[in-house]
Amino acid sequence: MKAGYVPRFSRAERLLHWVNALGFFFLLATGLILYLPRLSVLVSRRQLIQSLHFWSGVGWLGALAVVIVLGGRRVLATARELDSFDRDDLRWLRGRKVPQGRFNAGQKINAVLTAAFTILFGVSGLLLWFGEQDTRYRFASTVILHDGVMYVSLALLVGHLYLALIHPATRHALRGMTLGDVRVEWATRHHAKWEPEGVHIDRPEPQ
Ligand code: HEM
Repeated sequence: MKAGYVPRFSRAERLLHWVNALGFFFLLATGLILYLPRLSVLVSRRQLIQSLHFWSGVGWLGALAVVIVLGGRRVLATARELDSFDRDDLRWLRGRKVPQGRFNAGQKINAVLTAAFTILFGVSGLLLWFGEQDTRYRFASTVILHDGVMYVSLALLVGHLYLALIHPATRHALRGMTLGDVRVEWATRHHAKWEPEGVHIDRPEPQ
């Protein structure tokens, strides 16, 4: 381990994140071509784009499932960590400066929503596809759900990218998601309650 740095994300966690991001961007691009009339006219091969969008969605969900299975307990432990909210998380959400664990409350909400939206994208996408083949599977609310989830995901993504790439206080996190480790000083400042496995961090005594 590099001196002055602590491991933040395992290989499995990083792989899961980048497989998810890659799939999401591809689906967003092909989805927008189908959704925006101007782009549809420009690309013109609607049938092909529709098939690409559907099969890449199937591939995306399949690849995520494979990484989760291969990641095993470590990925499940991360999911449990993201899904546990304590009193400090609630205080943090009310704007108080309280110590946070490996993930702050905002990140936990982002992760829970991202997981829920992935499932909703999958279910509504399958219904849309089957609805094209058989009118019994055609429901008016399926399109509203698929498009609605896309709008909310896009809004979340803009905030996420701002924090990951632009905001000076948080963009160091990108090192954790690419190389796997972050500076000890950054970790203690942003995630004071986080205790990385097998690593001792000297923290100042609370006043
Ligand atoms: C170029 C695109 C992206 C970049 C640069 C990026 C960057 C990052 C970074 C640096 C983290 C770790 C934050 C930390 O240290 O705690 C992270 C976490 C995460 N990312 Fe991304 N990300 C990208 C795309 C996406 C996409 C497309 C999604 C979902 C649709 C996504 C969902 C998440 C989630 C759920 C987490 C964990 C919770 C959180 O930190 O908010 N990311 N991302």
